Amino acid sequence: MLRTATHTTQIVTVEFADGTQARFHAIWLRDNALDPDTRAPGNGQRLITIGDIPVNVSVSAAEVLNGDLSVTFQPEGKTVTFPAHWLADHIYDHDHTEKRGRLAPGLTTWDSTLTPPSADWNAVHADPKAKRDWLAAVAEFGFAKLAGGSTEPESLLQVADLFGYVRETNYGPYFEVRTEVNPTNLAFTGLGLQAHTDNPYRDPVPTLQILYCLENSAEGGDSIVVDGFRAAEKLRDQNPDGFALLAGYPARFEYKGEDGVCLRSRRPMIELSPDGELVSIRFNNRSSAPFVDIPFDRMEAYYAAYRQLGDIIDDPAMGVSFKLAPGESFIVDNTRVLHARLGYSGTGSRWLQGCYADKDGLLSTLAAMEMAQPEAAE
Ligand code: OGA
Ligand code: ZN
Repeated sequence: MLRTATHTTQIVTVEFADGTQARFHAIWLRDNALDPDTRAPGNGQRLITIGDIPVNVSVSAAEVLNGDLSVTFQPEGKTVTFPAHWLADHIYDHDHTEKRGRLAPGLTTWDSTLTPPSADWNAVHADPKAKRDWLAAVAEFGFAKLAGGSTEPESLLQVADLFGYVRETNYGPYFEVRTEVNPTNLAFTGLGLQAHTDNPYRDPVPTLQILYCLENSAEGGDSIVVDGFRAAEKLRDQNPDGFALLAGYPARFEYKGEDGVCLRSRRPMIELSPDGELVSIRFNNRSSAPFVDIPFDRMEAYYAAYRQLGDIIDDPAMGVSFKLAPGESFIVDNTRVLHARLGYSGTGSRWLQGCYADKDGLLSTLAAMEMAQPEAAE
């Protein structure tokens, strides 16, 4: 509900029932008008271009009508209503000078004390609430397990089907993670793997990874996941200059482990949005290429920051460890959460299958479920 509305020709100021005030510009309001000539009623898409808005757009009237805002724009002589709750959801009249390296809303960072979010295979298939909670955990923590699945090969594809689509790569729709004789990737050996994000040599990187366990009777092979955003926060607090270096200069990543493939990227280890929000982490010792985009005078400091970030990531206090059982899998936000495994050997076998999928699709499925059943949201 709105209490009052006042205006100049270029700015409308509203006061909400709780006393909050917010200003909106004439051009912004006109662009975001919700009437059927501006927004297609069926799909909600905008029908007008920026050029369709008169350059001399102005407000000739703004008043509260039934608790909502009614605005008349000139020179069109067009009157449009903006629901109060819609305005409240789209306030931009606030302080934008926030800390660089801050988290996007809705994320919670964690360390080794996190109890891994976990869902049950049958539940996520049968119960929309269980599925929604599982997707919400991936959105908030960047990581969730799924237990109680089948041990049939390719079951991981059904995990992706729950929210979207597999992202196929040169490794195929999915890849086998087991010891191979002439491996195209060190992941396909029994070696331990330092915590890493996958495929930083792709641009864009795969934003989700699913690792699904079919056999795991070998000695070792435990999985570890680390919150890269928590690691970045720690680096920022311990060494702000080092954080700025890793965020401010591109690293290089490369993969050419098989014939006909030469993937390269030039992207920072810590990526921020233009206004300073943490966007993604790229960290992978196996596929880092020579860094050539850091000024000579900063290279040693860059390496010191890289080492410090590595130390934070390797710190046992940061990682959540578990050993996957056959039929168990986990999904990580590959732009945020790193995964590692201990080496494995000896008798027995270890067989995982891995695939990639897209986070935007997962978030879309989650948001659509939340819109369809808002009453069930926590
Ligand atoms: C991978 C990987 C981890 C494991 O295939 O990307 O990191 O547990 N594997 O085998
Ligand atoms: Zn990996």
